Amino acid sequence: MEEKVLKKRILTGDRASGNLHLGHYVGSIVNRLKLQEIYDCYYMIADLHALTTHYEDPDAVRESAKSIFVDYLSVGLDPFKSTLFIQSCVPEHSELYLVFQMLVTISRAQRIPTLKDKLEDLHIEEGLASLGLLGYPVLQAADILLYKADLVPVGEDQVSHIELTREIARRFNYLYGQTFPEPEAMLSEVSRLPGINGNKKMSKSLGNDISLSASREEVQEKVKAMVTDPAKIRKDDPGHPEICTVFAFHKAFNKENAPYIETACKNGRLGCVADKENLASVLNDLLEPIRTRRAELLRKPDYLRELLELGNEKARKVASATMAEVREKVRIGPLSF
Ligand code: TRP
Repeated sequence: MEEKVLKKRILTGDRASGNLHLGHYVGSIVNRLKLQEIYDCYYMIADLHALTTHYEDPDAVRESAKSIFVDYLSVGLDPFKSTLFIQSCVPEHSELYLVFQMLVTISRAQRIPTLKDKLEDLHIEEGLASLGLLGYPVLQAADILLYKADLVPVGEDQVSHIELTREIARRFNYLYGQTFPEPEAMLSEVSRLPGINGNKKMSKSLGNDISLSASREEVQEKVKAMVTDPAKIRKDDPGHPEICTVFAFHKAFNKENAPYIETACKNGRLGCVADKENLASVLNDLLEPIRTRRAELLRKPDYLRELLELGNEKARKVASATMAEVREKVRIGPLSF
């Protein structure tokens, strides 16, 4: 019991917009598998955050939340070690978000760099963002502080949200008394996985991803379609692995053999076709046990529901304690005479 108290708490999550792909796998899943052995981990499926951009397609949000939950379990996030839960199943997220909205000025929210990127991606004119989209990082602060998390594993692009979270914690503590710790971002050192088209980032919305639930054939096809060195036309032409997408994947998923592949490609001893067949089989070896577990889980919907309720319930316990404290401090909630 003593040990449990000393464990630092981690909170992180994924927006429920799409399913998990190999980019998530190298960028966050591998790290989360290690973290769950050391810390008290909360892994959240952020369906409310997904609504900020997908509110016109709620079915997609629900499907994505389901598929991410099954992905979590299939890759080995352990519902008995970590707390796996759905954001909207813990209504305190919305309530704390509302309180935090008092503590952030509109201009501060408008200066968060991810807002600009989102508006560009969604082709929304500046000034026409919904309040929901503007509040996205404030909701994220509520996610983190509700659990009084110490560490937040995120990518570089999320650092501005953690900074805002720290500001909100400071402001709340100043106004109402010490309540929240100031969480720290925990950046993973893994490099970003490119998309199969050679784009810097693998992303479902860019259509260049390989999903964790892709079939064997799909993996083979996507690898076949990968962009390689355009100067390597014939098998024995010398290649430039440093600009080749296939090689970037070898570095991420086939570390042991990457040095050999690099030399063989440069020397013109390894052609792109054989190289791709090799990569597809490496990826399929990685994904096969995940596929098997997914298929098993999908045959047991009652068990899936139970596991999800287990996580939701654990999350609600912590969240309701924090929210009771917050209500007391900001003098809302039941009156006592
Ligand atoms: N904004 C994060 C992303 O786009 C997802 C997220 C929502 C999150 N709430 C969070 C991450 C809380 C860390 C902590 O990836």
